[in-house]
Amino acid sequence: STVFVPAHPLIKHWVSVLRNEQTPCPIFRNAMAELGRLLMYEASRDWLPTVSGEIQSPLGVASVEFIDPREPVAVIPILRAGLALAEHASSILPATKTYHLGMSRDEETLQPTIYLNKLPAKFAEGSKVFVVDPMLATGGTIVAALNLLKDRGVSNKQIKVISACSSPPALEKLSEQFPGLQVYTGIIDPVLNDKGFIIPGLGDAGDRSYG
Ligand code: PRP
Repeated sequence: STVFVPAHPLIKHWVSVLRNEQTPCPIFRNAMAELGRLLMYEASRDWLPTVSGEIQSPLGVASVEFIDPREPVAVIPILRAGLALAEHASSILPATKTYHLGMSRDEETLQPTIYLNKLPAKFAEGSKVFVVDPMLATGGTIVAALNLLKDRGVSNKQIKVISACSSPPALEKLSEQFPGLQVYTGIIDPVLNDKGFIIPGLGDAGDRSYG
């Protein structure tokens, strides 16, 4: 997989707000949503197909380009924390379907369990899929989520992973197991501790978003 950490001052800003332990829950959630908006914006560049035509403006005829409404785009937030990061997907992407995936990681074993799976049995032909999860720590959760997409015939090139904070072991797993996949992350932090937390990271993104 290829990893992008877009060099944008607003991305740095919202990551910094998320890192601050003083940031209260509603502000944390808003910062997560803004970061998600910017990462999805960056990930859409050169990826979402447009269709061109002409349109009548109040003062003349203009050549225009719209996101092609025939090309399916799906957003998969991984609950809980992915809900906050994906919040603006529906406002910046003109037409999307949202499929929720609920996954939780066992605090002892660090193994993910799927408790909600709203994925369709089959995705529309040629779908482009954003998989949205704030933390890629051990990578167990994202790998399990991506395997569900693989089972449904979605190729790695059709997928972009959107994440606030990632650790090297997770990114290595993705590049080994999902070649051609692209990851957009706000920051990469070097250390993963023995409890599976990214250091310095953001803390527990689910708890910090929802109290
Ligand atoms: C956290 C986080 C990721 C996952 C990352 O979710 O939001 O989904 O752990 O860990 P991994 O890469 O080691 O698998 P958590 O299970 O805490 O659920 P939550 O979002 O409901 O808090």
